[in-house]
Amino acid sequence: MATIHDVRLIELPKFVDARGNLSFAEQHTHIPFEIKRTYWIYDVPGGENRGGHAFKQNQEFIIALSGAFDLIIDDGYNKTRITLNRSYYGLFVPAGLWREMDSFSTNSLALEFGSMNYDSEDYIRDYDDFLRQKRDGKV
Ligand code: TYD
Repeated sequence: MATIHDVRLIELPKFVDARGNLSFAEQHTHIPFEIKRTYWIYDVPGGENRGGHAFKQNQEFIIALSGAFDLIIDDGYNKTRITLNRSYYGLFVPAGLWREMDSFSTNSLALEFGSMNYDSEDYIRDYDDFLRQKRDGKV
């Protein structure tokens, strides 16, 4: 069962160049799962929160491609806040962790890779339900 200590901030390659920098992420080399889906969150109004949920199976890898935002990761016992503000770092978030996103800067762009296609059944959207499932060892 995942804990906040299983979350990993992974530094990505960065080619610094006077013409503009370049970074990349490869499946298995940097992203520790097979990528089934990519989505992005953008145009977030100031003060908004996103992502108040846990996934039962889906793993994620999250990059702040532009701007900055915070991820709050919670395993039911401990919580941690991680700021993503560089486009050459990715955050690996295993399944079974409650996560929220806040403190989006203007024009921030969150790129997220998932290990599964979208499945509404994979979401736990109620925090008390998450705590129960965590306590029962189901996630
Ligand atoms: P949701 O997962 O609730 O967003 P957040 O990142 O804030 O948790 O998704 C918002 C809506 O988008 C929801 O109605 C489902 C839809 N959606 C898809 O259809 N496919 C996807 O890959 C994702 C991430 C969301």
